[in-house]
Amino acid sequence: MRIGILTGGGDCPGLNAVIRACVRCGTTVHRDEFIGYRHGWKGLIEGESVVLDQATTRGLLTMGGTMLGTSRTNPFSTAQGSDALRATLQRDAIDALVVIGGEDTLGVAARLADDGVRVVGVPKTIDNDLDGTDFTFGFHTAVQTATDAIDRLHTTAESHDRVMVVEVMGRHAGWIAVYSAMAGGADIVLVPEEPFDIRAVAQMIEHRHASGARYSIVVVAEGAASIATADDLVVQSDAIDGFGHIHLGGVGAAVARDLERLTGFETRVTVLGHLLRGGTPTAYDRVLATRFGIAAIDALHAGETSVMVALHGTNIVRIPIGEAVAALKTVEASLLRDVRMFAPLVS
Ligand code: F6P
Repeated sequence: MRIGILTGGGDCPGLNAVIRACVRCGTTVHRDEFIGYRHGWKGLIEGESVVLDQATTRGLLTMGGTMLGTSRTNPFSTAQGSDALRATLQRDAIDALVVIGGEDTLGVAARLADDGVRVVGVPKTIDNDLDGTDFTFGFHTAVQTATDAIDRLHTTAESHDRVMVVEVMGRHAGWIAVYSAMAGGADIVLVPEEPFDIRAVAQMIEHRHASGARYSIVVVAEGAASIATADDLVVQSDAIDGFGHIHLGGVGAAVARDLERLTGFETRVTVLGHLLRGGTPTAYDRVLATRFGIAAIDALHAGETSVMVALHGTNIVRIPIGEAVAALKTVEASLLRDVRMFAPLVS
């Protein structure tokens, strides 16, 4: 089989490990040939590709980023995009595609599958908001990086008796915020799932400090919104990407400014941002990415199309891609309750 591979959307630790596992499994078990398309769907539209074999994918397991490059190009945003993509598939005699991406990239994959292109998806995003899988690869690494940062902020916050606000990624869902807040022993966590009342947050901090605490750590997901702004998100710019997403960022600074004003406590903000997407994957993500890559090739050779490999418990299963992209997976109320067990918000 001649298999095309691409990585789309934001990069994520573990992308290279998936590519390596696909190529290793496909070439040794099935004698497959692989073409890697550069920069997501853009590479298919523009016909930019590289040959992937055991030599070109050696040493990838521990490397962050993606050797193929990535982009947020949407081939369906122009009339010519999907025609050009199909022409490339035909020129390169591609039998099937392994598409490694989040909801946007896999949404395109599902559309192509409906039109007869043979496709298997691999769930990727540090945000962990893709439905149908217990975890996406990359999430665990992002949580570890955020937790390490929060651990460090504890000591400087304590030295200065400060409130520290930590902004983490999480456009639609607060998975990174909740997991890193719980792992890092943060005092307050603000997530996109629930608009926050900054006065309640300020009261909570005042209450903590009146009861003996000398400092507080507040973790805020970039997609969290204040009730005062009627769900308006804080953005970096009005630029929209190919899938209609705006460039978020800045809610941490707004929260820090308001908390200092309301409480009188000295407050600082740290924005972790793209740090969470960089660097080598954790052992957990290397294993998950490797298992996903092998499972994707197995799925193609089992005759599947339009499926996404997914983690259910400890098993890798196949689910329809359409199921995974139909709705976002947000943080459930019980987990929010657990993380707030240690610092309930006063309302
Ligand atoms: O990939 C998801 C994500 O990390 C979001 O959490 C974040 O809003 C977005 O990507 C940032 O994307 P960009 O790299 O385009 O700034």
